[in-house]
Amino acid sequence: MTQRGRLITLEGGEGVGKSTNMAFVSAWLEARGVEVVRTREPGGTPRAEAVRELLLDPGFDEPLAADAELLLMFAARAQHLAEKIRPALERGAWVVCDRFTDATYAYQGGGRGLDEARIAVLERFVQQGMTPDLTLLLDMPVDAASRRVSQRTDAGGGERDRFEREREDFFSAVRHAYRQRAEAEPERFALIDAARPLAAVQHELAAVLDRRTAPWR
Ligand SMILES: Nc1ncnc2c1ncn2[C@@H]1O[C@H](COP(=O)(O)OP(=O)(O)O)[C@@H](O)[C@H]1O
Ligand SMILES: [Mg+2]
Repeated sequence: MTQRGRLITLEGGEGVGKSTNMAFVSAWLEARGVEVVRTREPGGTPRAEAVRELLLDPGFDEPLAADAELLLMFAARAQHLAEKIRPALERGAWVVCDRFTDATYAYQGGGRGLDEARIAVLERFVQQGMTPDLTLLLDMPVDAASRRVSQRTDAGGGERDRFEREREDFFSAVRHAYRQRAEAEPERFALIDAARPLAAVQHELAAVLDRRTAPWR
């Protein structure tokens, strides 16, 4: 097999610290001589970001059908894979992605209640067997994460997007689905307690990265 880069994904609900720790994970890898491409889903390329807008915009006077939401997620992912992720991995870069397909299982599966088997059909269609090499799941209670989102939204003066407007039971279902996935695939997932102070979270992230990526570096 030709040597290729690695795909590391950051997962977890709103406010757990994915975006905050994206910089830390990328910098940790770069300090060890790895070329890192930082990206996010949904989005990551101009066209995929346009699909993201459609997915997150709360401004339409019309609901977004759950199946349409699911297909848009995978449409954005197909574009992201073709135009950014696969080319980066092929030239040997490592891709660090803020959310990926586990988020689709957690949000559209756990949160919206879509059948996991239907999500799996699209995953196979779009990804052709490619999966992340390592998934860092930032996990914490929903109420504490929601307080972080409020602080972030208030501080930034930002509006809540379509997902951030969901209710607590939606986020509890998302968290449960994420945790189940981590339990089912312990070789791929690292479960991180994200409720602790940032320094403690990053201390553990560094330990996990050191242990899990050593054979690849
Ligand atoms: N371990 C932590 N302890 C306290 N606050 C944190 C921690 N990690 C992140 N935050 C803060 O919580 C808010 C949400 O973090 P963010 O990285 O935007 O989460 P996400 O991208 O997962 O939604 C931000 O204001 C961030 O500064
Ligand atoms: Mg974020």
